[in-house]
Amino acid sequence: MTFIGTGYLGITYAACYADLGYEVLGVDIDAAKIAKLNNGDVPIHEPGLDELLRRNLAAGRLSFTTDYQRAAEFGDVHFICVGTPQREGSTGADLSYVENAVLSLVPHLHRKALIVGKSTVPVGTAQWVEDLVAKHAPADSGVEVAWSPEFLQEGFAVEDVLRPNRIVVGVKTAWADALLYAAHKGVFDLAATEDREVPVVTTDFATAELAKVAANAFLATKISFINAMAEVCEAAGADVTHLARAIGHDPRIGNRFLQSGIGFGGGCLPKDIRAFQTRAQELGAGEALRFLHEVDLINLRRRTRVVHLAAELLDRPAGPGGPGLTGLKIAVLGATFKPNTDDIRDAPALAVAGMLAKTGAKVTIYDPQGMDNARHALPGAEYAASLDEAVTGADLVCVLTEWAEFRNADPAALAELVAGQRVIDGKNCLDAAQWRAAGWEYRGMGRP
Ligand code: UGA
Repeated sequence: MTFIGTGYLGITYAACYADLGYEVLGVDIDAAKIAKLNNGDVPIHEPGLDELLRRNLAAGRLSFTTDYQRAAEFGDVHFICVGTPQREGSTGADLSYVENAVLSLVPHLHRKALIVGKSTVPVGTAQWVEDLVAKHAPADSGVEVAWSPEFLQEGFAVEDVLRPNRIVVGVKTAWADALLYAAHKGVFDLAATEDREVPVVTTDFATAELAKVAANAFLATKISFINAMAEVCEAAGADVTHLARAIGHDPRIGNRFLQSGIGFGGGCLPKDIRAFQTRAQELGAGEALRFLHEVDLINLRRRTRVVHLAAELLDRPAGPGGPGLTGLKIAVLGATFKPNTDDIRDAPALAVAGMLAKTGAKVTIYDPQGMDNARHALPGAEYAASLDEAVTGADLVCVLTEWAEFRNADPAALAELVAGQRVIDGKNCLDAAQWRAAGWEYRGMGRP
């Protein structure tokens, strides 16, 4: 099998499926990245991936190439794993990488093969890909298309690929269905040895495509729901973390993805809910997803809330242009969109750091893994080499990504380093009582 596009998705799948015993070729147009991967270097931070990559390169089951002709000759199943970012100047998805991947591969396919879309796409894309294939594949090659979205979470990507909680396949023929079964057999066999079963949902193209965006829309809505409750808690003097527990014990609601704070970010949820709305509008069903616009607004409001909390804690009431924090030093702990990744795409932490810098404050950022990416994205900020260095002399500390290093930090020790003991817990991840006992003025999100 081939995995086309060696981002988070493609690299993880390639390494995991090689580990399951398949012969795997990863494909990308970025020659520098391919050289790195063939050398055993993972260009992203993902727990467990380095070892898997090296082990399977060494075993000869895995390699990487920029050569589409080689990929076409090699693969029976070609998985499309390229990015579908938000289109420049629009809320819709940019499908140019999908189109390029298909057009680069298909003319070289001289025997029957299956192209399987994994990228997150607007509903209707699979049909469009099938039409592209029909137009550009050599006559009588019999190439078919299927869609099988992925649900992996960064930070748990290896686990999610090897032990998925479900597999969704959109297929049109029994041949495609059988080949996809064979292509997932390693995952089913692994589950059987662990006495588990992996549920499979076999459906049409459109439903398979929608399964992915609907899942992400639901998760985003759940997070914005609790963050909307945080706003109400702020007005009512209640505590949203207790509220989340109080409702989450109801199994119909469930306590996962009810973590309030500065909202969701990353390369998926924010752009996916926007692209989903745009696609629904194109289909004449825009009204059905109008609530996702609110979900987005609630999410973005939480970022502004941190700036206002900072002004309040630092006793600098907002002027007409917003809060002015000139002359003050703020330590921002966290840059990545969540812990255990180096991904800073649409990271709430970095967005808040940028907003704080705009108030005139001197902002110093520290993140255990995201420093290189953050420096590129926000070059104007200052960066510290350690947690201690970041907080030294700070008037305010903002914890904006819930890394274990921050959750486990000793508030009494940090008190010795700062200029003022004020902390904003942007992820409600600190032990408020412990920080207060150490003399800190503590503010959470949606907490009294
Ligand atoms: C998300 C989905 O969870 C995956 O199922 C999906 O496959 C993936 O997008 C994708 O489309 O590829 P991911 O972007 O890795 O995965 O991150 P999540 O763990 O979903 O977190 C997203 C954001 O929500 C983070 O900023 C996180 O801090 C935030 N979040 C999460 C909360 O604010 N509260 C929560 O309770 C949970």
